Amino acid sequence: MSRKKIALIGGGQIGGVLTQLIALKELGDVVLFDIVEDLPQGKTLDIAEASRVDGFDVSLKGTNEYKDIKDSDLVIITAGLPRKPGMSRDDLLTTNAKIMRSVAEGVKEFAPDSIVIIISNPLDAMVTLFKKVSGFPVNRVMGQAGVLDSSRFSSFIAWELGVSVKDVNAMVLGGHGDTMVPLIRYANVNGVPVMEMLERKYKDAAKAKEVMDAMVQRTKMAGGEVVKLLKTGSAFYSPASSAITMAEAILKDEKRLLPVCSYLDGEFGVDGYYVGVPTVLGEKGVEQIIELTLDNDEQAMFDNSVNAVTKLVADMERLGL
Ligand code: APR
Repeated sequence: MSRKKIALIGGGQIGGVLTQLIALKELGDVVLFDIVEDLPQGKTLDIAEASRVDGFDVSLKGTNEYKDIKDSDLVIITAGLPRKPGMSRDDLLTTNAKIMRSVAEGVKEFAPDSIVIIISNPLDAMVTLFKKVSGFPVNRVMGQAGVLDSSRFSSFIAWELGVSVKDVNAMVLGGHGDTMVPLIRYANVNGVPVMEMLERKYKDAAKAKEVMDAMVQRTKMAGGEVVKLLKTGSAFYSPASSAITMAEAILKDEKRLLPVCSYLDGEFGVDGYYVGVPTVLGEKGVEQIIELTLDNDEQAMFDNSVNAVTKLVADMERLGL
C-alpha cells in the first residue's frame, strides 16, 4: 500500500505543528507549502531531522510551488493571518478571503481529487469561499472548528468535575464565533449527564447552572483567551491536534462522529450554508450529517449562530471578495 500524500497550505504556527503530528503518527508524506521563501523548507528540514529519535518514516518536503502538491489525497489549509489581541475572527475577513481565493485556485489545479480541511479564519466564510472557487463537491470540503471548541468545552468540564477528560463527551455546534452553541443537555461523563454531576456537587440547581454558564462562556471566548496571553498570534497546538483528529478519521476511514463545519442542504433547516454540525467522517470525507433534536432554547441559539454565518457570507459577497 502506498503512503498517503498530505498537502499543508500555510507553513506558519499551525502548519508546523500539523507537520510534526503527521510525522509522529506516520499518517502520510507531507508537502508543506507557504509563500514565504525558505520557511516551509526550514520547518520540514528541522522536523525531518528528528526522524531518527522520533522513529518515523515519512517524507517531509517544504515548497513555495503549488506543483509540488500534485495529486495529494488530503489538503489542510491554514494560510492566512491569525488574530492579534482585541481582534475578532471576522476582522480577518478581507485579508484572508484574498489569500483563500489564491489557495483554492492552486488546490483546484494541482490536487483536484483531494479532500480539504480548512482551518483559516473566519472559518465559516473561508470554507464557503473555498467551495465556491474550487467547485469541489461538498463532501470533500469542510472546516475545522467544532472539534477544537468541543475539546475546549470538554477540558473545562473535566477540570471542574475532577474527572478524566477522556470520559467527557461534549459537543459544540454552530458557527466558529461568539455565537457558537455548546450543547449542555447532551454533555456527559461516560453517559452521566454533566448537569446532574454539577447539581450533585453543589447541591444547588441554581449554582450548578451558574457554573455551567461560566464554562459555556469560557468556551465561546476560549480562542480570545489564548490570543490575549500569546499577544503575537492565536492558538496553534490545539487547532492542529483537532484537524489531525479529522484527518485521521478520513485517512483511516474511521467513520467518526465529530462536530464539523459541513455544508447543509436542508439539514437543521439550513439551506446552502456551512455550519458546525455532527458529521460522520470517513474515506469519502463528509459521509453523513446527523440531525439531532434540539429543544427550543438550543434551536434558538443555533438559529442565532446560523444568522451570524449568513451575515458574514453576505458581507463577503457585498465586498466582492
Ligand atoms: N498562500 C500560502 N500561505 C500563505 C499565504 C498564501 N497566499 N498568505 C499567507 N500565508 C502563510 C503565511 O506566510 C504564514 O506562514 O500562512 C501562514 C499562517 O501562519 P501563522 O501566521 O503562523 O498563523 P497560524 O497561527 O498558523 O494560523 C493560521 O488559522 O486558526 C486560524 O485564525 C488563524 O487564520 C489563521 C490561520
